[in-house]
Amino acid sequence: MFKVILLAVMLAGALPAAVAADGAQLYGQHCAACHGLHGEGGVGVPLALPDFLSTADDDFLRKTLRNGRPGRVMPAFRSLADAEVEAIVGHLRSFAKPDAPAARAPSSARVHGDVEKGRALFAQHCAACHGANGEGGHGTGVTFSRPRDLPIMPPALNNAGFLAAASDAMIKATLMRGREGTPMISYLDQGLSEQDINNIVAFVRSFEASAPAQPPPLDEPMILEAESSYSLEETVENMKRAAIGKNFRLIREQRLEHGFFPEGEENAKQVIVYFCNFNFINQALSLDPRVGLFLPCRVTVVEQDGVVKVLSINPKHLSALYNNRELDAACDEMTELYEGILEEATL
Ligand code: HEC
Ligand code: HEC
Repeated sequence: MFKVILLAVMLAGALPAAVAADGAQLYGQHCAACHGLHGEGGVGVPLALPDFLSTADDDFLRKTLRNGRPGRVMPAFRSLADAEVEAIVGHLRSFAKPDAPAARAPSSARVHGDVEKGRALFAQHCAACHGANGEGGHGTGVTFSRPRDLPIMPPALNNAGFLAAASDAMIKATLMRGREGTPMISYLDQGLSEQDINNIVAFVRSFEASAPAQPPPLDEPMILEAESSYSLEETVENMKRAAIGKNFRLIREQRLEHGFFPEGEENAKQVIVYFCNFNFINQALSLDPRVGLFLPCRVTVVEQDGVVKVLSINPKHLSALYNNRELDAACDEMTELYEGILEEATL
């Protein structure tokens, strides 16, 4: 009897660990927003492509999840448990058609080629899409703003995350075969020889020496804040003038509590001014559609205990969260504009 109870207790204790991590659920939670629920792509590149799934070995997938692609939007998932990573990899495999060839076995075999010959071939055949130094195409994944002849962003190849994950064999197979349904075509079909392709693989591998380092950790304040030496009303007027002076167009001014209280009863000492610059919005959206979350620009002016303050989000802080090196430059510019407007309105 005692033994039976003990066994039951042991089984109960073992249960949580025995519940397998659910790959579909984890994928839905961590990946689908960017890669699409069925791997069709979005802010992220497609993952369900047959040529991708058959050339990417499990090791490539695991390492890509763990290390991400520094500065190229794809986050590093360091805090997932190993079992969770395996479950997600299993889920990616479920995107493959039942009759698809088995996934490639991981291989650490080196492909030998002539780096200098590879450099010339890369400039001729690859640089137009992947950048002269393999820095990748502009924008993100598969987006509405992409030119029709280039519907998918060419990934960065001089990226520490990519280079650490991809084996020579995988890079070679990608070049030999291409990825049907994307602008990445087969270079065997294009008339390159296997030796040419080996030379290009050797050149891509040589990026390891120059791949940009991981961006420094986030140390930007979340909010930009300035105390005004004017009254609330004057500060709001200054704000509008400063924004217009910097080529922004005013969209509207409203009380912070607008919509939460009957009209006229909102706190008149808390005002938001919305403004935008359509060129900037279009440029930023084509780099990363997620900036839609903090555009149009808005600045809040509040008066509390006789002190008037002007507050805005800090685009640099948000940009650091997005892991998008291209967006960083636009956000630096935006932060400078905000700081200029805040200063002009309050000093
Ligand atoms: C914030 C958006 C975003 C999220 C979230 C995201 N990814 Fe990505 N992922 C990307 C982008 C963008 C790329 C292409 C990077 C480049 O340009 O080099 C990418 C690349 C990849 C690649 C390499 C694809 C290839 O063709 O080599 C894999 C595999 C991948 N992601 C899997 C995942 C998985 C699995 C998750 C969830 C655990 C995930 N990603 C979450 C945006 C994202
Ligand atoms: C017309 C544009 C274009 C050209 C030219 C091109 N590529 Fe690509 N390449 C892409 C796109 C787009 C992808 C992403 C495909 C996808 O969604 O999986 C890609 C994917 C890749 C990948 C896989 C990257 C990853 O993250 O898994 C490698 C490696 C690659 N290309 C290397 C090359 C090399 C080397 C050349 C020259 C021989 C080349 N490409 C030429 C557009 C191009």
